Amino acid sequence: MVHSGGERLGRTVLSAEEIERVVWRLAGEIDEEYRGTVPVAVIVLRGAFVFAADLLRRMRTEVCVDFIEVASYTIGARSTGRVELRRDLREDVAGQRVLVIEDIIDTGRTARFILDHIGLHQPADIKVVTLLDKRGRRMVEVPVDFVGVRIPNVFVVGYGLDMNGRFRNLPYVAECHWESSGGRAESE
Ligand code: IMP
Ligand code: MG
Repeated sequence: MVHSGGERLGRTVLSAEEIERVVWRLAGEIDEEYRGTVPVAVIVLRGAFVFAADLLRRMRTEVCVDFIEVASYTIGARSTGRVELRRDLREDVAGQRVLVIEDIIDTGRTARFILDHIGLHQPADIKVVTLLDKRGRRMVEVPVDFVGVRIPNVFVVGYGLDMNGRFRNLPYVAECHWESSGGRAESE
């Protein structure tokens, strides 16, 4: 759902050209890791769909694709820490190598939840790739194997990322500011 708007775009954090370079580099690193194996690429809905579509098309590794959807509840730009599973994997990942594709890791709670959840299915191993990493905000330890770009503690949108449902289809990543009387929002 797209909510109404006190959201305002700020400066560009990652241009389309910069994203292109980062995605190519990550694809190369991932190809090296998975040479000769066929991992299950788990795309975290909804935010990672744009990044995953670009990343997977630049990889030469053969993959099986699956999706997981989680809701990380936020108030404005602040995480409440509650994470809920909305859509589970369809593939049986037991004994498989799993690559989780995330758009952004902030407090780490969402990634931690996903790693724990997938871990229950006893995959051969799980690795995480994220386009954006707000490392300074980490509250929960999560191993991140492939990092696109570290960004400071600013709320960003575009290239799949939203604020209150808006801006997911921007072809670049920009800061987003929010002027509001404090409504409740939710983002994935
Ligand atoms: P976590 O705090 O690492 O659990 O991240 C929770 C979720 O909040 C992420 O998966 C994103 O959906 C969302 N999120 C965190 N930071 C941003 C941001 O700067 N822009 C848009 N979404 C964000
Ligand atoms: Mg996300």
